[in-house]
Amino acid sequence: KRRKRIFECPNTVKIKHFFNLMILCWGEGHGSSIHDHTDSHCFMKILQGNLKETLFEWPEKKGNGEMTKKSERVLRENQCAYINDSIGLHRVENISHTESAVSLHLYSPPFDSCNTFDQRTGHKHKVKMTFYSQFGERTLCNLLPNTTRFVNLHLPHMEFPAL
Ligand SMILES: [Fe+2]
Repeated sequence: KRRKRIFECPNTVKIKHFFNLMILCWGEGHGSSIHDHTDSHCFMKILQGNLKETLFEWPEKKGNGEMTKKSERVLRENQCAYINDSIGLHRVENISHTESAVSLHLYSPPFDSCNTFDQRTGHKHKVKMTFYSQFGERTLCNLLPNTTRFVNLHLPHMEFPAL
């Protein structure tokens, strides 16, 4: 009953308080900047294709040099990955020149901005994420061609395990 109350609520603010669920579509050769996760947990599942994840150390506060690479791996279809800020920073890329990729991301608690980092200097830059839709409503992002689009799924009737 409690679960139903939450997800039948016409106002989806309560969903927003728990997590953001997004699908990202990666064209051939597309990749993210190096970024953090704003103190959230980030779960990712590859739905189609492969994505390369490169993990970096946080830059020194007063540092001004090349960022340190910790590891890299290729995540294949159906594989899952997890990251948070205590693990480090990462870049995600579709390194294929012939196949696109699709990934599902769950962020909890949700966030709508994060920091990107310049690999050569470690300098950070705050960016706001743009959403194709939020809470079932299309956003102005639709008018922009060829931008990376986060689809914030609106699933008011989805059944979740008791929270
Ligand atoms: Fe990420």
